[in-house]
Amino acid sequence: MSSPDPQSVKASATVFVIFGATGDLSRKKIFPSFFELFKTNLLPEKLKIIAAARSAYTSKQFAESLKENIKADDKNLWRKFSSLIEYIQCDVESGKNLSLLSQKLETVEKTNKVCTQRVLYMAVSPFIYQKAFENLGKYKFNLGCQKHGKLSRIVTEKPFGFDYQSAHNLNEILNKYFEESQIFRIDHFLGKETVQNIFAFRFGNEIFEPVWNRDFVDNVQITLAERIGIEKRGEFYDKMGALRDVVQNHLLQLLTIVTMNEPSTFSRDSIRRQKIEVLKAIRPFSKDDIIKNTIRGQYVGYSQEASVAKNSQTETFALVKFFIDNERWQEVPFYLKTGKKLTGAVTSIIFQFKEQGHELFKNFWQKPIPNHITLQIQPDEGIGISLVAKKPGLTTVLEPVDMEFCYKKSFDVPQPNAYERLLMDIIIGDQTLFLGRVGNSWKIIDPIEKMWQKGQPKLEIYKPGSWGPNSADKLIAADGRKWLAPILTICKI
Ligand code: BG6
Repeated sequence: MSSPDPQSVKASATVFVIFGATGDLSRKKIFPSFFELFKTNLLPEKLKIIAAARSAYTSKQFAESLKENIKADDKNLWRKFSSLIEYIQCDVESGKNLSLLSQKLETVEKTNKVCTQRVLYMAVSPFIYQKAFENLGKYKFNLGCQKHGKLSRIVTEKPFGFDYQSAHNLNEILNKYFEESQIFRIDHFLGKETVQNIFAFRFGNEIFEPVWNRDFVDNVQITLAERIGIEKRGEFYDKMGALRDVVQNHLLQLLTIVTMNEPSTFSRDSIRRQKIEVLKAIRPFSKDDIIKNTIRGQYVGYSQEASVAKNSQTETFALVKFFIDNERWQEVPFYLKTGKKLTGAVTSIIFQFKEQGHELFKNFWQKPIPNHITLQIQPDEGIGISLVAKKPGLTTVLEPVDMEFCYKKSFDVPQPNAYERLLMDIIIGDQTLFLGRVGNSWKIIDPIEKMWQKGQPKLEIYKPGSWGPNSADKLIAADGRKWLAPILTICKI
């Protein structure tokens, strides 16, 4: 499996421009990840980070403000790190001061005395992407270090677009100025260590592939349950909702990774090709399917959150039952579920295997006990297999038991967080863990979103601290199944 070579990272002279440097994403994820990489000496020897945003700050004030989210006990280390950061007041939406920024980049290159790789990180609201991309083109930020023709890289965040059409429009504008090889569309789930490990688990172990199909798998449950609410993101979240915020990207990405055929190489194009095959095979939803197979909920108190409309119909819980119409997965239901303010925080993918009614044991169980495989991403990363075993004793009693592999126990090494990994990939220009043009996933989500906007099915209100709307239990019970994520949570300390 490819991983960024620290020597190549060190040798890549780079300047990052972080647009939206004062926002939540920058403060909570991007700058702390840079600091972690700095501590472990995994950044380029020649690096400059330009923090760009609309508010007035000096570079010193800005660096000080980062300490709220970065534990900088070692003063010397912090001094060295903060000296890499320079703050520039500018507005990528209106274009104000972008020429100043452009001059700054040239100065950095002159000081470095090398043609520096420019990276434009769009940590701004996705609602201003269109104008921002136009301005980047207008001020020729796409061209990079011009004398040597080293083109800039641009990093975008999710959600990329609001629906198929807007994502398409964004791609059109981006492609006017940037080639695909310059574009790094982030879905941070792909940078998570366990998500990458799914590739190793599936394609590095011969024992799973023969049963990874409709003949053996009964159903698959992909869950991203969170205890937190929307925090201070009311303005963004109320326009998005859980379906666009999490299902369209993180959960559909997980779905493709656990169901795709083996890519021929661990490369951007091979992996993207296999993912697209899966997305294209997802059964289109009729209106009736949407009413029967989707659930949207909102937690009590959501509409009182700051910057949320008082009569908001935005969902904080989304459940969709998918089918993949291909030879491997025909008729296997995939339940994708996410929600905020739920009882537990867990992200996992659980494969439930079919119950084979073994004649041999018919007198020892009321009904066969199915096997499960749990691929757990959060809170603790690991893989669990539930098996049937004979309980020790003179009588034959069969019971389910768990076999667990927990990353923390097996590998005593620090794991880079998703953003650290992705930043390193951006520096060396490896696009394997980044998204393609994302059109196919929007095509799946758009019809559901359209019906939800019309109020179908009805928005259900659920209590914070519950597992979501009651009808979620009813939906799965009607299929003769139950939710497994809370039961099969593994690697508990
Ligand atoms: C983000 C969503 O992309 O992913 C958030 O916008 C969500 O709403 C988050 O909380 C979950 O990611 P993680 O890595 O914190 O589990």
